Amino acid sequence: MSPRSLYRSLAFAEAVTWTLLIIAMVIKYVFHAGDLPVQIAGSIHGFVFISYALAAGLVGVNQYWSKRLITLAVATAVLPYATVPFDLKMDRSGKLDGDWRRSATADPRDHTLVSRLLRWMLRRPALLGGTSLLTVVVIMGTLLIIGPPGGQS
Ligand code: HEM
Repeated sequence: MSPRSLYRSLAFAEAVTWTLLIIAMVIKYVFHAGDLPVQIAGSIHGFVFISYALAAGLVGVNQYWSKRLITLAVATAVLPYATVPFDLKMDRSGKLDGDWRRSATADPRDHTLVSRLLRWMLRRPALLGGTSLLTVVVIMGTLLIIGPPGGQS
């Protein structure tokens, strides 16, 4: 999976889960039909939000995005559907082009600690996949214990 397809699939999934959450909120607040749909859709949305944020970080480091751009990419997931136009803008401006950087070039940006760590992980895809999943699960679990963002439990 290229950086482009990883980022684009999660940006799209984020919009889909916003749709689920909005439908669930209509069921809860307009039709007063219970909390269960919001609890389910909120959990799915939360999981995809954290996955999207992690992917934006990985892809952003790989694509030499600035810290500001990576922060902006994550922030777009807070607004319903904002990941879609942002993703289109990134794609059209060529910021999603190219493959994963598995080896260093002379570019100084390839020699930061984060870049080195990413390259090390990219050469071990199973470890990268497992660590990413574990990170998402740990963040999700922690947020569920302290109270999910936007949620009421
Ligand atoms: C910043 C990104 C997020 C936004 C904007 C957001 C927004 C929302 C909104 C609007 C609701 C519906 C609340 C209601 O009316 O009942 C909700 C529910 C929920 N969210 Fe999030 N959320 C975000 C991230 C997360 C994350 C990271 C998690 C994972 C831990 C999460 C887990 C939940 C859960 C479990 C619910 C259902 C709460 C309940 O009613 O029991 N959300 N979220």
